[in-house]
Amino acid sequence: HGDDALGETQPLLTAAVLGLTRGSGGSTDFFSNEPDTDPALPANRAWGRRVLERVAASQLGVNAIRSAALTDAADLDTLVRTVSAAGRRWGERTGGERAAILHRAGLALAANRDRLIEVSASETGKTIAEADPEISEAIDFAHYYAERARELDHVQGAFFVPSQLTVVTPPWNFPVAIPAGGVLAALAAGSGVIIKPAPQAKRCGAVMVEALWEAGIPRDLLALVDIEEGALGERLIAHPSVDRVILTGAYDTAKLFRSFRPDLPLLAETSGKNAIIVTPSADLDLAASDVVKSAFGHAGQKCSAASLVILVGSVGRSKRFINQLVDATSSLRVGYPDDPAAQMGPVIEPVAGKLRAGLTQLGIGESWLVKPRQLDGSGRLWSPGIRDGVAPGSYAHLTEFFGPVLSVMRARTLEEAIRFQNAVDYGLTSGLHSLDPVELELWLATVEAGNLYVNRAITGAIVRRQPFGGWKRSSVGPGSKAGGPNYLFGLGDWKADAGSP
Ligand code: ALA
Repeated sequence: HGDDALGETQPLLTAAVLGLTRGSGGSTDFFSNEPDTDPALPANRAWGRRVLERVAASQLGVNAIRSAALTDAADLDTLVRTVSAAGRRWGERTGGERAAILHRAGLALAANRDRLIEVSASETGKTIAEADPEISEAIDFAHYYAERARELDHVQGAFFVPSQLTVVTPPWNFPVAIPAGGVLAALAAGSGVIIKPAPQAKRCGAVMVEALWEAGIPRDLLALVDIEEGALGERLIAHPSVDRVILTGAYDTAKLFRSFRPDLPLLAETSGKNAIIVTPSADLDLAASDVVKSAFGHAGQKCSAASLVILVGSVGRSKRFINQLVDATSSLRVGYPDDPAAQMGPVIEPVAGKLRAGLTQLGIGESWLVKPRQLDGSGRLWSPGIRDGVAPGSYAHLTEFFGPVLSVMRARTLEEAIRFQNAVDYGLTSGLHSLDPVELELWLATVEAGNLYVNRAITGAIVRRQPFGGWKRSSVGPGSKAGGPNYLFGLGDWKADAGSP
């Protein structure tokens, strides 16, 4: 599902269009998800304490960032030529050969779990509890895409033609898993890669890339650049030798990239304004806990976060659910990641713009159920807030704040609640808390979002089990989902097999 405003043609999945089927030859299903660190085990608690101590001391273990030094357009052109040439040679290897190296990359990421958590906590303020699953996800991407790379050798009726050069521009909010996912997918699909980490998370990108180099991914095949947005950044995105760009970021950034180069093959996962709907049939205890987790995990700074909770009928009229929500939110401990008890960390930068409005200004008819407070002079540490009485069509209903603020809406019926969710421009994640199968069917058939969760939090997609990708203004490009079986298909071109009818 691409986006009309960006001139997408809304193609179906590439593979579906071509009527491809997966051959049996390369398909393996040995993949299993990497477990997160289990804090119940004493050895892991001791390990966690050591990581926390290093976070507190900010001993990042990162030496100079070994990015390609780019000072002018000529440097950039040289780098593009080098990586593109390495990409061409890499794409000539079989998927099976690429898979072997990608599996090694997964092992290297696992061996660097503590450094990756450390740098993620120190650089972006992520709590260890939030950073740890992200490392598991990065490892999953390596092993999962390795197996999908093998399958590219065995597609019947067509040849996959790899890109030579893919540019990956990840965000700072998942500073390890999202850069790793883009890089590993592009490598698995046979392309050379230039990664430009988010300015707020350069070290995370560097430590991740160093792990991949250690695993045997050649440096001319995977280059890290440290350039700011501006003329050089624009030149990189618009460079005619760049075959594809994988972007995760704001919808406006996708628009900007398209303005640099209108014909740019872009795979973008963009913004969200996601709701959890709670109906009277729901397990309200579970719903309250899942709403709090989805709204305030990583201080609400996930594209997948719950920004709206829509209460249907009696759930909104009675005090029971609201009181639970307020209690659970007010009791969250907020602190920096070196505080082992912190459940919610700081936001990435001193709050400004839309987020400041979200945390400090009420619209007509709105009131605070929980009023956000600034907890220190940094401008980054805020307690979570819940606004009540949010009206359909209002600023709080339609705007992505990207921080620790949740808006409560009330609907008479489930149909009305779904209309409220569908009225937003985006369609990334959506949740339903209901124990009624008729309600579930209605919601599944009508809600407009790429990732649907029932009686579960709406963040934390898991590779293979919940491939991740959006709809409407949450996605630009071929519409295949990251961490899913078709993602690599969108990262190259296809040619018909001359031998087939
Ligand atoms: N993949 C991330 C999540 O599901 C964004 O929360």
